[in-house]
Amino acid sequence: MIELRSDTQTKPSPEMRAAIAAAEVGDEQKREDPTVNRLEELAAQLLGQEQAVFVPTATMANEIALRTLSEPGDEVIAEENSHIFLSELGGPAVHSGLMTRPLRCEAGRFTPEQLRETARAGDSTHTPATRIVSVENTHNASGGRVWPLEEIEAIVATARELGLRPHLDGARVMNAAVASGVPAAEIGRHFDTVTLCLSKGLGCPLGALVAGSEELMAKARRLKHLFGGAMRQAGIVAAAGVYALEHNIERLAEDHARARRLAEGLDAAGVPVDLEQVETNFVQVELGPLGLSRQEALARLWDHGVGLSMTPHATRLRAVTHHDVDDDDIERAVELIPRALGALARA
Ligand SMILES: Cc1ncc(COP(=O)(O)O)c(C=O)c1O
Repeated sequence: MIELRSDTQTKPSPEMRAAIAAAEVGDEQKREDPTVNRLEELAAQLLGQEQAVFVPTATMANEIALRTLSEPGDEVIAEENSHIFLSELGGPAVHSGLMTRPLRCEAGRFTPEQLRETARAGDSTHTPATRIVSVENTHNASGGRVWPLEEIEAIVATARELGLRPHLDGARVMNAAVASGVPAAEIGRHFDTVTLCLSKGLGCPLGALVAGSEELMAKARRLKHLFGGAMRQAGIVAAAGVYALEHNIERLAEDHARARRLAEGLDAAGVPVDLEQVETNFVQVELGPLGLSRQEALARLWDHGVGLSMTPHATRLRAVTHHDVDDDDIERAVELIPRALGALARA
């Protein structure tokens, strides 16, 4: 099976497993796990923030970040298909009592004008106050699209002017950094809080970080306990994170090059893909012109030995490259995907 459903499908490499086996550990809740402490320092530095807190998942990192920045009844603005709105089970409402204000956008990116039109100051009797603006980079639902640094700077400047707190869902910010050639710290430093996921392109079995100022991370540590995310000898998994941050960032460029090769191969074979969309490790396949439903297409692809997955868009599938997909897999996928979709189109 050529596994292109998601970069979350990576399994730890032999080298990462060796790092896990050799991990020094201690009681993480007491800040006595040297490997967790090392991971948190490394991540804070890479993300341009004072501190970082290790948590089990990027969902938890996002939810903790939102809670550190707001009070119940406040509002959060984000793109309508952002992970925090679409894929966290209403967590912003459940964990933080937040109202959600979705923005419709191109490529997952909204403008300062949209932010200005949507944010409201609130008052003491009727109107809730917008408190947070959340940026997702890369943007999952639009196909791993990257926010240019100037657009981030413009959004954050507008947010500050409006008194909003900016959060970066940077689950894949390392992909954004590698693709744009802008260091992750240069992206992350603009935000009050930043999420980074270790278990996607970085190849760890699990783990994520939430980063921010010393003051905000003190709150985040308390919330991590409250959410049941404070662990014990977590260095066992943090060792994978340290390994990933030291060895697996630059290699994301290989995933991006393979996504491009896949997209170009599919395009040449007549499969509808938008080549301009391919900025990182996602390729989106448009089923509309093929007249196929997503379910039929996925089943036929699976039967041909290729795993793709759904997107929030009714006629679009995605293929995601990652650590465990090599050049041969891509060459085979370039043959198998058109065959599977062509066979279906003729059926
Ligand atoms: C942009 C983004 N944020 C957060 C997450 C959440 O990650 P996890 O499933 O590890 O909690 C994901 C997962 O796909 C994501 O794509």
